Amino acid sequence: MSSFSDEAAGMAVTIHLHLNGVPVSAQVDARQHLGDFLRESQGLKGTHIGCEHGVCGACTVQMDGQAVRSCLTLAAQADAADVRTIEGLSADPVVHALQDSFVRCHAMQCGFCTPGMVLTAAELLKTCALPSREQVREYLSGNYCRCTGYESIVNAVMDAAQTLAGEA
Ligand code: FES
Ligand code: FES
Repeated sequence: MSSFSDEAAGMAVTIHLHLNGVPVSAQVDARQHLGDFLRESQGLKGTHIGCEHGVCGACTVQMDGQAVRSCLTLAAQADAADVRTIEGLSADPVVHALQDSFVRCHAMQCGFCTPGMVLTAAELLKTCALPSREQVREYLSGNYCRCTGYESIVNAVMDAAQTLAGEA
């Protein structure tokens, strides 16, 4: 008896989405995850793939305004969605402030976790403009960093929140 995954293997699905504001149509394998589609078919290498099972947060992108793990999302699920990657968000004021603060606070070393950290932190700051350090730690607890020890990342998110509050 064949399983669903056997039947889905090699099955092509046509998707139409907005990717970083641009309409994109593509044929994807029914089992391809969104992260691989973004990196391999669309050349968007800012989306990093680490664990591939939803644990590290490196692959985080925005789908319809929500931070999602692109290794746990099928490309086929992005049909009709608005998908934004780190490359398409530098004009977003919250993401831009976070990027500035990550540089200012030395919140990255190898940079592997950084796009996922920034997109997850952006989601937090859009719902909670001035979080406590504890709230930042809690919100980022699903994003792993092997390099920084997290302190500088929390500093950067706090710094971005202050910057954005000063601009409001
Ligand atoms: S690669 Fe998606 S959560 Fe780790
Ligand atoms: S800066 Fe290297 S994993 Fe976070």
